[in-house]
Amino acid sequence: MDENHFIAKKGTPIPFTAFWEAPSNIALIKYWGKTAPQIPKNPSLSFTLSSSVSQTEVFFQPSKLGKFDFTFYFEGIPKPDFKPKLQTFFKRIESYIPWIHGFELIIKSKNTFPHSSGIASSASAMAALALCLMDMETQLFPSMETDFFHQKASFLARLGSGSAARSIQGPVTVWGENKIFSKASNLYALPFGEELHPVFSTYQDAILLVDKGTKAVSSSQGHDLMHQHPFASQRFSQAVTNLEALTSTMKAGDLDTFVDVVELEALSLHAMMLTSNPYFILIKPNTLAIIEKIREFRVSQKVPICFTLDAGANVHLLYPLEFKAQVNTFIEEELAVFCEKGQYLLDQVGEGAKKCNFV
Ligand code: PMV
Repeated sequence: MDENHFIAKKGTPIPFTAFWEAPSNIALIKYWGKTAPQIPKNPSLSFTLSSSVSQTEVFFQPSKLGKFDFTFYFEGIPKPDFKPKLQTFFKRIESYIPWIHGFELIIKSKNTFPHSSGIASSASAMAALALCLMDMETQLFPSMETDFFHQKASFLARLGSGSAARSIQGPVTVWGENKIFSKASNLYALPFGEELHPVFSTYQDAILLVDKGTKAVSSSQGHDLMHQHPFASQRFSQAVTNLEALTSTMKAGDLDTFVDVVELEALSLHAMMLTSNPYFILIKPNTLAIIEKIREFRVSQKVPICFTLDAGANVHLLYPLEFKAQVNTFIEEELAVFCEKGQYLLDQVGEGAKKCNFV
């Protein structure tokens, strides 16, 4: 299947309001390195989150001048400074949704999690917007199948932010061609499937907020640095090897191997950042202090907790639901002290995006 599969017909604009909520996700096998247009250099796999979501309403109005335009509000406030990024997104996707030209849009979005919290808001926001667009497309062309709806929503979201492709469905999704998931695609993400061991559909993610400052390097700059990175090709093949190992362990429910692979991936992502030219160091002393504590707790308590990192200093602490009470006490007593203002967020793996009801 290629991109042409996702080109819709033109359509007669009708007024409509779409309202969707989409979760963020945290990668276990990391996507770092891409070619245009948002084609990943290696496959990635992530946990879809549950409470960390973007909620987006889009009011579609037939345009009086027949010209596409939009206004964007974030948390109730008009945000003209977000417009250029969204304009780039609409330019990238317009050939797949040619019906958009007859519309003027009002887009209102908000997040349930704080800004710069180590939760990828671009993933949830782009996924929620893509779902609103697909909801409109379903009104115009009602015979659409559910699989196509999800795949095209993921395809459009990917063109806004690569990792957003993985924020449509849950509890675990895979994006990028590979030999293990024969149906996986570079164009959109798919769910892991029924072979996922049940322990992973209720996995917990505590996000430890080490540093709430904005990132020193954007993910686009990071992806770009992989083009001339001396270890790039080894990294891309390592991700494939790690995906194979992780997939078997996520079918078998083998938590020891899960811990090993997830932590190796997190540190490999940061190793790429540490060894790019120019290099950048996103982890902080408290990130390392938390990692040390997690390792000690795992050994002393024999509880299979592990960490992963996004492109930032905050730590995602992952653990099975059955250890929730014990791990939450550990966080409060031993890890919160390393967090900015003692702050952390408790989330868990979720089922994916939902259509919201109007109140
Ligand atoms: O979706 P982007 O372009 O913001 O890149 C995301 C990169 C990481 O979050 C570091 C890894 C990933 O796979 O989500």
